[in-house]
Amino acid sequence: MLAKLDQLYAESLGKLEAAGETAVLETWYKNTLGTKGNIQLMTRQFGKIPREERPAFGQRINTVKSELEAAYQQKLHLLKTAEMNAAIASSAIDVTLPGRQQPQGGLHVITQTLRHIYRIFGDMGFQIYRTGDVETDLYNFELLNFPPHHPAREMQDSFYTTDPDVILRTHTSAGQIRAMQEYHPEPVRVILPGMCYRNEQITTRSSIQFTQVEGLAVGTNITFSDLKGTLTEFARRLFGADRETRFRASYFPFTEPSAEMDVTCFLCDGKGCQVCKQTGWLEILGSGMVHPTVLRNGGYDPDVYTGFAFGMGPERIAMLKYGINDIRQFWNNDLRFLKQF
Ligand code: DAH
Repeated sequence: MLAKLDQLYAESLGKLEAAGETAVLETWYKNTLGTKGNIQLMTRQFGKIPREERPAFGQRINTVKSELEAAYQQKLHLLKTAEMNAAIASSAIDVTLPGRQQPQGGLHVITQTLRHIYRIFGDMGFQIYRTGDVETDLYNFELLNFPPHHPAREMQDSFYTTDPDVILRTHTSAGQIRAMQEYHPEPVRVILPGMCYRNEQITTRSSIQFTQVEGLAVGTNITFSDLKGTLTEFARRLFGADRETRFRASYFPFTEPSAEMDVTCFLCDGKGCQVCKQTGWLEILGSGMVHPTVLRNGGYDPDVYTGFAFGMGPERIAMLKYGINDIRQFWNNDLRFLKQF
């Protein structure tokens, strides 16, 4: 019986040695030291052995049990450590690897241009005044002194809604009246940025959708000199300190007198090139003294108040500044184009 116990002991130790993972170890324990394990079964043989051999056998079996238990604990610790090390190694982060690049967004070139314009007028005390993209015929045309049969009112220029009096604004000038009606009788000094819409043929130079920045100053002491001074300073800050400006007489229904402002071409410095069509000048914006009728429609007495207004297209300004030759580029969402700015 003792010999059988020693053989079982040797076999069990051998199997324990051979176990390569903790799962195998668990099975080994169940089969060896568990309640129905081999060693336990052997203990139950106790009654079958001769009385005088019992003490020796009992002692031996206790030694075997505690030695196997100790060997098991040692092996368990060994395998657990090895398994943990393997897990750590396989999920390790190599901190020396270069990081993954996160794509970085940027501001649209028109947003950049708008913000540049806001900054300049902000420094001069102009506030930003926003009005809706959807306007009424009244504000977009009528109160701005558009004669009833002015060509801009015709269907091909405006986008109409199912209500013939409601349109998409064709210019930011529509907000002038709204600003005046809100401010009067206080002085006004605002710029009105926004998207404008015209039902036109799309070409490299004109789009059905574009931004504008309108300006409006109304007060009791505003002259054409203020208009010229403000816009000349604006042009210098936007295009460069040595830009010269000139004002050409023009016509807009809502201003009288009206003028368009040119700046000396900043590509050829006024010498003449393709962009300025050899004239040395670039047209930048429309402007004028607010028409008395428009002042009155805004709630101001034209005998007491005067004002100037102007309007410009940031797309045109950006096209000139960066040499972009197709206005459609701005809203095509082609990242190769947009990422250049
Ligand atoms: N609204 C005009 C346009 O869309 C631009 C403009 C011209 C605005 C003269 C003005 C102005 O305020 O005084 O072409």
